[in-house]
Amino acid sequence: MTATPASAGASALPDLLKSTRERTLQLTAAISDQDLERQIDPIMSPLVWDMAHIAAYEDLWLVHRGGGQPLLRPDLAALYDAFETPRAVRGEIEQLNAAEAREYLAAVRERAIDVGAQQAVDAEIGEMVLRHELQHRETICQTLALAQLPGFEPSFREPIPAATGGHSGLEFVEIESGEFTLGASGDQFAYDNELPRRLLSGESFAIGRTPVTNGSWLEFIAEGGYGERQWWSDDGWAWVTAEAITAPLYWDLSDRAQPVERTSCGPRQIEPDRPAAHISFYEAEAFAKSRGARLPTEAEWEAAAQWRRGSPSDFGGANVGQVSFDTSPVGAYPAGAADCGALDLIGNLWEWTTSEFDGYPGFKPHPYPEYSQVFFRQGYRVLRGGSWATDGRVASPSFRNWDLPQRRQIFSGVRLARDVQR
Ligand code: AVJ
Ligand code: FE
Repeated sequence: MTATPASAGASALPDLLKSTRERTLQLTAAISDQDLERQIDPIMSPLVWDMAHIAAYEDLWLVHRGGGQPLLRPDLAALYDAFETPRAVRGEIEQLNAAEAREYLAAVRERAIDVGAQQAVDAEIGEMVLRHELQHRETICQTLALAQLPGFEPSFREPIPAATGGHSGLEFVEIESGEFTLGASGDQFAYDNELPRRLLSGESFAIGRTPVTNGSWLEFIAEGGYGERQWWSDDGWAWVTAEAITAPLYWDLSDRAQPVERTSCGPRQIEPDRPAAHISFYEAEAFAKSRGARLPTEAEWEAAAQWRRGSPSDFGGANVGQVSFDTSPVGAYPAGAADCGALDLIGNLWEWTTSEFDGYPGFKPHPYPEYSQVFFRQGYRVLRGGSWATDGRVASPSFRNWDLPQRRQIFSGVRLARDVQR
């Protein structure tokens, strides 16, 4: 049995909800009410919408459906339902202000604790609500990176481990052909899209020992990779030319001697040892082709992501949980090496796979189709492994994230793969 976090038992749940909420409030406390209330970017919600949506989700699932109580604010249900109020309109509509959103969060939490005291809350629903807040904390971090708020600094930031050096993202480790299981075991909390688990057999392949580094990405730019038609898919070329993309999002190469990467906590030098971040699927694909490689399928990614001692986010072997609030140099968590030798599979940056987001054979929506199913076969690509902004509870080897191929606000990077001839 691995040490992957199980569903929070009824007794652990209140403590986990409490510590999670403390962090959410610490993070948003570092942002002015004015910045919380404006829509920072059209593809993101106003941060205050995320806050109130966290409350509405908790009220709906823990208090109403779990505890059988009426909703605290039935008048807000549609406003904070992600489907009834899509992102496109969240910037324009009347909604709770920052103070009201904080009150709503606190009031719902009080009800949730009361319900929990009266009856054993279903452990699965509790875990889902907990992970929902954790996932929205990563969404908030994406918005903060887009916002570049002057002087923004979360109160809890810790230093990152030092660089170990010597990695480029272009070295490979080999995985022998054979059988492996894809998907969550199902005896612990799992999202519907991680099930059912199945046995696959695969050919030998090679996967990057680390994510592709800034140093390697700077070489791609210096070679003119962004203008080299042959590296790009048709869709990728249409995107890179229409948007006049010449570098990863947040890179500023105007001073060649001092290339700069902007982060939510301010600009810093582009360090060659850090993983190239805020890369779209199209860029990832093009880079891979330029190196005679390709991206992994999600099945290959998961075949590589095996640890005899359990998931590295559980034993401190991964850059997860918003602790450093930044990427770490690749390979800075050697204890988290997978059995195949690959580093940084969990944490640091999400990694694009070639797989389009779809249900596994035998998929059943649970507990609601809007978590996953409505996104199947809509052109979303699967990302794996989690980022520095993902909580360790969420970033498991079987967890599937998804985004559109042109998106770069997500904390995404690139791990290469290639076939192995035998
Ligand atoms: C799994 C990260 C794609 O943010 O859209 C949050 C998670 N689902 N609220 C998203 C989620 C419902 C989801 N991702
Ligand atoms: Fe949500």
